[in-house]
Amino acid sequence: MDTATYKTAVTQAFNQAAASYDRMGVEFFTPMGRRLVERVAPRPGERVLDVGCGRGACLFPAAERVGPTGRVLGVDIAEAMVAEAREAARRAGLTTVEARVMDGEHPDLPARSYDVVTGSYSVIFFPDAPAALARYAGLLADGGRLGFTSPVFTADTFPFLPPVFTELIPRELLRNLPPEWQPAELSRRFNSWLADPADLVRTLRGAGFAEVDVADEDVAMTAASGTAWVDWSHTQGMRLLWQHLPVRESAELRERLITALDAMRPGVGPLTIPVPVRYVTATVAR
Ligand SMILES: C[S@@+](CC[C@H](N)C(=O)[O-])C[C@H]1O[C@@H](n2cnc3c(N)ncnc32)[C@H](O)[C@@H]1O
Repeated sequence: MDTATYKTAVTQAFNQAAASYDRMGVEFFTPMGRRLVERVAPRPGERVLDVGCGRGACLFPAAERVGPTGRVLGVDIAEAMVAEAREAARRAGLTTVEARVMDGEHPDLPARSYDVVTGSYSVIFFPDAPAALARYAGLLADGGRLGFTSPVFTADTFPFLPPVFTELIPRELLRNLPPEWQPAELSRRFNSWLADPADLVRTLRGAGFAEVDVADEDVAMTAASGTAWVDWSHTQGMRLLWQHLPVRESAELRERLITALDAMRPGVGPLTIPVPVRYVTATVAR
């Protein structure tokens, strides 16, 4: 699969998901984005760029921190996500928040014009994220900080899914996925640099960063039921797996996941799963 085909598939998936993205009653992206912003700690008056902003999991916490004298720009390749983020900013009366359609891998923005660059669960979708990180170093002013999140990858992780869910997906159900959408192939192509903290640190140093910190912390993912989780999974990166699975396997996977997830619930109570998230922060090296 060439890069353009892959990017078009990602853009379409998130355009289709945008109306319900992070609004299905499953808690995950919002607390993760808030925690990432806490870790890079934008200060009053600073300029923040959020790449792959989605509906604004980082944008709005960042806007709170930079206050009325700062500004926050979110960019996303999916125009429907940008429309949702803009509408949320308008409703909140936040004139310091702007959202634009842009390929976050190749940001067309002035050099040294940001104090903080964030990207929560977004750089993991970039075909060449290390090259994008080097571009972010160029966008940051002296002393500028970078922060992004990713799943904590293990061998054979489905690239856009926390490992616990990969364990629940029987491999035989994935055998009819097109080869280029096989989990191992996607992970190898796009995310191998994220799996080992030592590789990550090396990659960030090579991209022009210092003081690299890699911290794995759990986000308590909650969902009302197995069905709620599976419905939600169609509104995030896992949509790419659902879209490429043949109908029979898709129906079977749905049933298997619902059963397995409901078995993890305490009686009729909601499902809570600690999901490890990798928070990476660094400072531009100059
Ligand atoms: C899992 S969502 C995360 C969104 C948001 N950061 C959050 O935490 O809720 C991934 C986002 O990355 C965006 N994305 C993927 N590839 C991108 C690219 N090349 N440039 C900009 N955005 C991209 C998707 O459209 C989607 O909105």
